[in-house]
Amino acid sequence: MFFIGCVLFSLAGFFLAFFLFAKKASKTLLALDRLSRKIAEDGVGGILPIVEGGEASKISVEFQHMLDKIRSDFVSLSEKIKEYEMIVSKILDPLFVLDDEGRIVFFNDSFRSLIGNNIRVGQYYWEAIREPTFAEFFNEHTSRIKENKTEIRKELKLKSKYFDVTGSFVRVTGERFYIFRDVTPLVEVERMKRDFISNLSHELRTPLSAMKGFIETLESDDSIKERSYVEIIKRNTERLIRMVNDLLTLSRLEEGYSLAEFEEVDLRDVVEPVLKLFERKIQEKGLDLIVDIGEDVKIRGDRFQLEQLFINLIDNAVKYTEKGYVKVQVKRENDSVLINVEDSGIGIPEKHQSRIFERFYVVDKSRSKRHDGTGLGLSIVKHIVMLHNGTIKLRSSPGEGSEFSIYIPVITSTKN
Ligand SMILES: Nc1ncnc2c1ncn2[C@@H]1O[C@H](COP(=O)(O)OP(=O)(O)OP(=O)(O)O)[C@@H](O)[C@H]1O
Ligand SMILES: [Mg+2]
Repeated sequence: MFFIGCVLFSLAGFFLAFFLFAKKASKTLLALDRLSRKIAEDGVGGILPIVEGGEASKISVEFQHMLDKIRSDFVSLSEKIKEYEMIVSKILDPLFVLDDEGRIVFFNDSFRSLIGNNIRVGQYYWEAIREPTFAEFFNEHTSRIKENKTEIRKELKLKSKYFDVTGSFVRVTGERFYIFRDVTPLVEVERMKRDFISNLSHELRTPLSAMKGFIETLESDDSIKERSYVEIIKRNTERLIRMVNDLLTLSRLEEGYSLAEFEEVDLRDVVEPVLKLFERKIQEKGLDLIVDIGEDVKIRGDRFQLEQLFINLIDNAVKYTEKGYVKVQVKRENDSVLINVEDSGIGIPEKHQSRIFERFYVVDKSRSKRHDGTGLGLSIVKHIVMLHNGTIKLRSSPGEGSEFSIYIPVITSTKN
């Protein structure tokens, strides 16, 4: 009996304790619910009511501390954002940010000055920049992003000015920003330089042709004793004529290609006569000539310029190779024609490889002088490749040889 009485008493004590605890807990939960509603209503700026008693009161104080901390972080973050926005808006180069659908998210003062006052956040970029060149650029950037490349850089003409435009993609936000650097003065100087070179080389051709004519007369004159002098004058005049012709070709190519005459060209008809020009020299040097020309190598292009392309590449391959072979390959690869000119010559050191397509760039002055090189050949080649919407790649190791690979897209007549 006594035992049962003890059990009942303990149970009663337990239930009483449980009841008191549950009551206290539900009071705390109710207080918590009230506090969170208040935060939701007032945001981080609100003041929480002091909840009376025990746990709930402690929690409300903790909540208030937390809110104060968030509030002060929030204020300093907003100030930082304002500061950055001000810095960006004062950057002199125009810039703007687009979301992944091409809507304007942000632009700076310079961009507004460039585009006009009607520009608004939320507009699509094509409502602000009406030039199709930017739309093409945007689409190209989209393709690059799909290939996991985030950056793009190109020269674009907008509002009759030239800009060096850089685009970057921010993967976390899906936004892109574009910076426009005005390079109009540089482009103008380049144009003046080109005009100058073009006019000068044109003017030089007449006296040089006259000199060449008279040298040939002197050559056939038996009374001249110092024949070697005549030979030197002849060789140097020919070199000058070649240089002037190269300069003229290059400045015309750089002018905007308006002089190009596009037609259907079967590259087999272009390569074969060019190879004939080099047969003797290849034989004299004891080199092997490997030729591999496939069928179906027709492209739309400028016959004369394509001939120049082969002449310059094969001339280099033969000139800079003392033993081994020169290989010329032309073949169809999917929608392009591949032109490959390979040699087993002296090769080009890595550090020069990105620069040899520049005007007058020679790897080694003594090497080029020995070969009468002026460093114009490859810049002509590069312009001709660009004229045909192609790409050019170089693989080379010193002492082993060089390989120039050019891809030119085949444009079917229906596309034209
Ligand atoms: N196949 C090659 N092998 C080794 N070096 C080469 C080859 N092709 C070009 N080069 C190097 O690149 C430089 C630039 O070539 P490029 O054809 O522009 O000029 P060049 O041959 O010196 O003169 P030009 O072609 O105007 O007569 C050359 O000076 C040469 O050193
Ligand atoms: Mg050359």
